Amino acid sequence: MNRFVLGGLLVAGGIALALSVSAKPVDYQLPDDTTAFKPGPNLDIVQGNCGSCHSADYIQTQPRGPKFGKDFWQAEVTKMIKVYGAPIKEADVPKIVEYLSATY
Ligand code: HEC
Repeated sequence: MNRFVLGGLLVAGGIALALSVSAKPVDYQLPDDTTAFKPGPNLDIVQGNCGSCHSADYIQTQPRGPKFGKDFWQAEVTKMIKVYGAPIKEADVPKIVEYLSATY
């Protein structure tokens, strides 16, 4: 056996060892508060209408501030209905907008 083959075997052994050491079961938990809707007015309606396609993360990660009030959320809910086909009842829209602007 020449030196190159021996060296290659050593390297391969090292890689195999490194892989077996790192192959432990990975245990991690998703944070609850980013995937659930915050408590607020009309929460049940929002959960029923906005939680079916995606988690509350999409709402949680929207910008905050005075410019992102009722008008912003009205446009967002309208977009969910018109663009993404969310089956939301007309009568629920103002309730959802109220919750979103009061809570986020
Ligand atoms: C029919 C499925 C569906 C429903 C129901 C739905 N959404 Fe969405 N929503 C989407 C899709 C699709 C996207 C875009 C995903 C992407 O870009 O990765 C999205 C994205 C978003 C975003 C991210 C910003 C944006 O405009 O793309 C927000 C905020 C959001 N939705 C809020 C809501 C709210 C509030 C409700 C309840 C009124 C709701 N969604 C209900 C499908 C839905």
